[in-house]
Amino acid sequence: MIVTHLSLSDFRNYRSAEVDLVPGANLFVGSNGQGKTNLVESLGYLSTLGSHRVSADHAMIRQGADAAIVRARLEHGDRQLLAEVQINRTGANRAQVNRSVIKTRELPRYFSSVLFAPEDLSLIRGEPSGRRRFLDELLVLLSPRYSGVMTDYERVLKQRNSLLKSARASGIKANQLTTLEIWDERLIALGSELIEARTGLVARLLPDLSAAYESVAGDDHHATLSSYLTISDPDAAGSEAHDEDGLKHTRLGGDPVTAAEAAAGFRAALDRLRRKELDRGITLVGPHRDDLMLELNGLPARGYASHGESWSFALSLKLASAQLLRRESSTGDPVLMLDDVFAELDESRRARLAAAVHDFEQVLITAAVYEEVPGELTSNTVRIEAGTVLGQDGIGPGGIAGFGRAAEEGPPA
Ligand SMILES: Nc1ncnc2c1ncn2[C@@H]1O[C@H](COP(=O)(O)OP(=O)(O)O)[C@@H](O)[C@H]1O
Ligand SMILES: [Mg+2]
Repeated sequence: MIVTHLSLSDFRNYRSAEVDLVPGANLFVGSNGQGKTNLVESLGYLSTLGSHRVSADHAMIRQGADAAIVRARLEHGDRQLLAEVQINRTGANRAQVNRSVIKTRELPRYFSSVLFAPEDLSLIRGEPSGRRRFLDELLVLLSPRYSGVMTDYERVLKQRNSLLKSARASGIKANQLTTLEIWDERLIALGSELIEARTGLVARLLPDLSAAYESVAGDDHHATLSSYLTISDPDAAGSEAHDEDGLKHTRLGGDPVTAAEAAAGFRAALDRLRRKELDRGITLVGPHRDDLMLELNGLPARGYASHGESWSFALSLKLASAQLLRRESSTGDPVLMLDDVFAELDESRRARLAAAVHDFEQVLITAAVYEEVPGELTSNTVRIEAGTVLGQDGIGPGGIAGFGRAAEEGPPA
């Protein structure tokens, strides 16, 4: 799949922008703070309904405006599609496909993209919640119906937690216990479905991850991932052991778990933790507390990997998800977006990354310095300045004449 045209209005620092895009590589160059990331963020939002930078949508609406609109013309083979989302400062967001209103949450069905950005370093170094989000977003891109399961799980979890909390305050009453058992069953049913889906995804992602790490890092380092399930480690639940030291985690490995297996484990863990959950007033195990274990040569990446290794690992996770999507999707490749990645890599890794992405149907790249991007990715270069897209006229092989020099000599941020 490719984006042939992107229209923005009142998105971040763009009052209004029209951008033509071509198959293959599209490079956006400009000094810091001009709107390069905003551009790829807008497409990321159109495909995931989320931003890699903020959790609150209103930050994406241009200051002083009431609504932002992201509209993209998409093409897959000879099929064309116009997808649009309106982000509203007040009231619900709205989505359209081919000018007909659709449920906003249906939008990810139409457009799939994978965005890699500097913030992704937190996939390796940050909290488990970021890794869960990574898995869940990919899951929804692959099977949109899981978005409903996730929403339902969150809702049940919230209800169950508020029941636990009120029981903690006043001691549990018989009728509350009955209600709790009902929530338990809902939580187990939905949670097990998620566990099955996530562990299945991890197993499918593993070979792509190892291959991507090798192609980016180009050495014999071995990157792996596996699922950590809190239901299989109930005694550690709520203790510090979860987050402090990756080595203490009990590992589940890369094997997928069936929903029935997960349900049995979930039920046993809840039974075992009943007292503790009532004391704490919170649900201690389940997909909302699970993690993804990332290892490099048998050591947890978090806490052991160097900055460069962590960076390559994060990039490899994104490349692997792009590979998986292209293999399993019926609508062609996801649009791959690489935000500010080349500046972080040395010459040989830049070349390797260029080789790893060159056969994707479309790759969008942002860079502050034109010269840092390998030549084979610069044939369609667009200049971004203060929320304006410039230089689409002068595009041709080799980019815009004298362009890279200007970018390099431009004012520092
Ligand atoms: N909601 C908004 N309204 C207006 N300007 C915004 C908004 N959000 C971000 N910006 C501006 O966008 C610019 C950052 O754009 P960004 O795409 O991150 O830059 P870069 O080209 O370095 O990737 C900053 O100047 C910031 O002030
Ligand atoms: Mg940026």
